[in-house]
Amino acid sequence: MDNFTYWNPTKLIFGRGEVEKLAEEVKHYGRNVLLVYGGGSIKRNGLYDQVISILEKAGATVHELPGVEPNPRVATVNKGVAICKENDIDFLLAVGGGSVIDCTKAIAAGAKYDGDAWDIVTKKHIPADALPFGTVLTLAATGSEMNSGSVITNWETNEKYGWGSPLVFPKFSILDPVNTFTVPKDHTIYGIVDMMSHVFEQYFHHTENTPYQDRMCESLLKTVIETAPKLIEDLENYELRETILYTGTIALNGMLSMGARGDWATHNIEHAVSAVYDIPHAGGLAILFPNWMKHTLSENVGRFKQLAVRVFDVDETGKTDREVALVGIEKLSKFWTSLGAPNRLADYDITDEKLDLIADKAMANGEFGRFKTLNKDDVLSILKASL
Ligand code: NZQ
Ligand code: ZN
Repeated sequence: MDNFTYWNPTKLIFGRGEVEKLAEEVKHYGRNVLLVYGGGSIKRNGLYDQVISILEKAGATVHELPGVEPNPRVATVNKGVAICKENDIDFLLAVGGGSVIDCTKAIAAGAKYDGDAWDIVTKKHIPADALPFGTVLTLAATGSEMNSGSVITNWETNEKYGWGSPLVFPKFSILDPVNTFTVPKDHTIYGIVDMMSHVFEQYFHHTENTPYQDRMCESLLKTVIETAPKLIEDLENYELRETILYTGTIALNGMLSMGARGDWATHNIEHAVSAVYDIPHAGGLAILFPNWMKHTLSENVGRFKQLAVRVFDVDETGKTDREVALVGIEKLSKFWTSLGAPNRLADYDITDEKLDLIADKAMANGEFGRFKTLNKDDVLSILKASL
């Protein structure tokens, strides 16, 4: 194992009806609250009314920032920062999916900075302070509800970057599976692909002696593979939503990367793709990941073989390690398409026209990836294989 320090201060409040706990949680942080939400799903499913009523009963004054986009824009972050500064906001409450939470994290840090929030995203400014915030999660996918990362897009420059700070762990996150019942089938599938991808990013490393970490990753993947096909046929099934909501959080709250640092190259390439084409994050991952796997297979065939055998039940008889590994990758790809995820860039009408631009954007901070360091030729080769 590698040496590590694990610290995660987010209070996780999980289960049916737990949104009522919002009242007592908010009281710790002041009365002037900015409610941040997306394009209206919470108004349609009743969660907005419920949250407003709880906040009012708790004596809070509620300001609002609606309209956070999927792939949240820095312009929206700056709008939120201005509301915070003008109204002396004490506390932010994100009600939504990863985009709403990521936007809230950037507002929280931006509210304590005298400049454009893009400086924080591009790491020109390292936050020294941030407003406290909590979340009510409505979509199982990113893990943003229990981590300190945030991904923000600048649509004017077609850039999308992740940034993070220990100051932007949510103070609390409330996860009620019922609040995910209305997530449509496509976003349910994207969420499933995203959480599985987070596990892959952490599973592929060269650190030795990680037997328990490996098994944690594999058991999470197996659980998702068992649950997902049932869930997409039964979107309001509490137990299935509950399982997926929980696995989504564990997949990216730091637990799986204790003792080994993951790769994260595929996420970097996907962020470059969605900076140019504004496609759903996990739609891009479903297309790119199997091709990243084939491209990096030779780095450690044994690890791919282990995944194939333990997670995808590939029969080893009569096959070389490489063949076993390749069958595993094929099974992953088939699993995602069987759910309804895309598997070619062409599914989003993306041709080879802007591959070079995407590759340049992915290379913005130089070569990347820990399992295999990728240069521009590697990125282009993965993108071309994904066409
Ligand atoms: O905007 P509303 O109307 O709320 O609709 C959203 C949005 O259209 C809808 N939705 C959410 N909850 C719903 C619902 N619809 C009905 N019922 C509900 N209960 O779903 C759509 C997608 O929402 P979004 O928040 O964009 O999805 P997700 O949670 O997948 O977040 C994606 C963003 O997170 C970033 C991605 O790059 C992308 O920008 N990521 C953040 C990470 C992190 N902070 O740790 C890690 C990830 O790898 C990822 O990069
Ligand atoms: Zn992701």
